[in-house]
Amino acid sequence: MKNTIIAPSVLAADFANLQRDSEMLNNSAADWFHIDIMDGVFVPNISFGMPVLQAIQHHATKPLDVHLMIVQPERYVETFRKLGAEIITIHYEACPHLHRNLQQIKDLGCKAGVALNPHTPVNVLEDILHDIDLVLIMSVNPGFGGQKFIEHTYEKVRKLRKMIDERGLNTIIEIDGGVTTANARGLVDAGADALVAGSFVFNSENPTQTIQDLKNICEAGL
Ligand code: DX5
Ligand code: ZN
Repeated sequence: MKNTIIAPSVLAADFANLQRDSEMLNNSAADWFHIDIMDGVFVPNISFGMPVLQAIQHHATKPLDVHLMIVQPERYVETFRKLGAEIITIHYEACPHLHRNLQQIKDLGCKAGVALNPHTPVNVLEDILHDIDLVLIMSVNPGFGGQKFIEHTYEKVRKLRKMIDERGLNTIIEIDGGVTTANARGLVDAGADALVAGSFVFNSENPTQTIQDLKNICEAGL
């Protein structure tokens, strides 16, 4: 059976109760902690930085999936590695020297991911796909949680799935933004391997159950 990775986004957690929310994720069906780092330059918002990630690392028992929405990520990836990142994803739109950035991340012993904004076509990755461990398709504009899912995402997932399969690669396709139980299964059917969900999980009455619901809906009948 195919295991869909569920990666709740800590951006939607209660920052005054990070230990409680981290323990909730530890004891849930979540696979990864999704960590959104925003610099107020690449995206029009600032989230949190190293001290907060250090606090999360202290409690998390699952892989930290770090999504860098920042310019010049090469200045910080080593620090994020030291803070426990197992996956570091950088934005295509922020990296004129993407190949070099990916090598730097891999040399640190991390899985290297590339994120694409909603307007960026998947085929820009044609000549670099074999060097990428994970492609994160943004299904909202990066910068904020709680936005509406962009329907065109399915089409991008299908195209990228084809590109990956044609090349015989095992690159992970991760979807980020507006994910709920209403679109999770459609995304998996289109070829997604990992789903990020922030507000849908943390704003729900029972986040542990919501994570389980996402897991179940992705895996039912597969
Ligand atoms: C948006 C972030 C997302 C965000 C998702 O820029 O990359 O990870 O936390 O939040 P929801 O699931 O609420 O859209
Ligand atoms: Zn994210």
